[in-house]
Amino acid sequence: MKSKQVAVVGSGYVGLVTGACLAEIGHRVVCVDSDRAKVRMLKKGHIPIYEPGLPEIVLSNRKTRRLHFTNSLEEALVSAEYIFIAVNTPPLPNGEADLSYVETVARQVGRHLRRYTVVVDKSTVPVNTGDKVRQTLLLYGKKNVPFDVVSNPEFLREGTAVSDFMKPDRIVVGVESQKAETMMRELYAPVKADMIVTDIKSAELIKHASNSFLATKISFANALAQMCDRVGADVTQVTQGMGADPRIGPSFLKAGLGYGGSCFPKDVSAFIHMAEEAGVDFKILRAVREVNDQARLWALERLKKALWNLRDKTVAVWGLAFKPDTDDLRNAPALDIIHRVQAEGCRVNAYDPVAMDKARGLIKNVRFCRTPYDAARGADAVLLCTEWKEFRDVDLAKVKNLLRTPVFLDGRNLFDPVQVAAHGFQYHSVGRPTSS
Ligand SMILES: NC(=O)c1ccc[n+]([C@@H]2O[C@H](COP(=O)([O-])OP(=O)(O)OC[C@H]3O[C@@H](n4cnc5c(N)ncnc54)[C@H](O)[C@@H]3O)[C@@H](O)[C@H]2O)c1
Repeated sequence: MKSKQVAVVGSGYVGLVTGACLAEIGHRVVCVDSDRAKVRMLKKGHIPIYEPGLPEIVLSNRKTRRLHFTNSLEEALVSAEYIFIAVNTPPLPNGEADLSYVETVARQVGRHLRRYTVVVDKSTVPVNTGDKVRQTLLLYGKKNVPFDVVSNPEFLREGTAVSDFMKPDRIVVGVESQKAETMMRELYAPVKADMIVTDIKSAELIKHASNSFLATKISFANALAQMCDRVGADVTQVTQGMGADPRIGPSFLKAGLGYGGSCFPKDVSAFIHMAEEAGVDFKILRAVREVNDQARLWALERLKKALWNLRDKTVAVWGLAFKPDTDDLRNAPALDIIHRVQAEGCRVNAYDPVAMDKARGLIKNVRFCRTPYDAARGADAVLLCTEWKEFRDVDLAKVKNLLRTPVFLDGRNLFDPVQVAAHGFQYHSVGRPTSS
């Protein structure tokens, strides 16, 4: 394989993983970020995010000089054959995706293009963004410099991002020319996965449709959990029975506190907005969002049911990150729940295996604890918000002795109800009968 020269703009979860993995498969990569502190850190060999396996490949590829970091887009573009746009696309208050970061990069790229380049959008963007990127490149670029715009949406999951990049289920590439398709095939040649080649608009929609469908499965499980609560059934048994049907599948059918993170909430809202603009009322997705908002309320309702009044009580919150194996707190249900219980006059002891430092800047008046046991000490209840493996291995007898009252709320159905109840807890989980 011929090694390619790649610039990746944006060194966050997606850009850094993309850049490091492209270097790992043999390309020469320059990662660009406008955040000076982040680039300083990366140049010193420090990784600004928690992502298993990432530090190793960043460090080894820096050593072999296949991976570089800079603040200067111009510098990165000098020899780039491919430019990946991997900047953030956060939600605006109306749910629409804020494309100003993508537009800024497209403008800067346009100004600095000197020879044929493939401009690849990796950020999650609404349909038609490829067209807008092309128009921007033409508007700000020098005349007669050829380029191709490609949509290459990213499906990696935080926590398993490196292996998701190296062994993806599929690589989706939206192109408008044979040359761009060939270039993308050459770039990804060492990655053994099916490449699905589409037009640009379809590739853009594949990303939003995939995330929205997964969010729909989660909300379906959560609506089912409400039903199970009412009739005394067990949602884990129901979803196991459903998921055994290969047409349905077991993944993303877990009831709990709902989805969070930087992608699903924003991508569902962006899809609803995008559909409205196209004159389509995507009713299913509005219901998906509503069920997800309700799922978080389960924690507050159950705490009140168990403890009656929350004023002057203390709850030990286990897990702050929006899911295990990441320190990402964007849209994490735990933070929302903490704000709600604090508003009821409840004190919070919090523990997370990796997200504590980031959490300090986001939640106030919380006692940050060094272990789950430390958090449980003197608390009136444990509330598990993130299913870290570490929690599965806790000594339940010890936890019970540390608590003031033995109330355990399992917002992720991590434990076996019989086992927890056998330790003398009043155990509440989502869509399963309460046991004590
Ligand atoms: N995080 C995920 O799991 C995930 C998965 C798939 C797709 N995505 C999508 O990928 C995109 C990036 O997400 P992320 O989680 O990596 O975001 P992030 O916020 O972690 O990183 C974005 C980075 O871009 C940088 N940036 C912004 N404007 C810039 C500019 N003009 N020049 C250089 N750098 C700039 C920021 O400083 C930041 O470091 C989003 O569209 C997101 O929806 C994210």
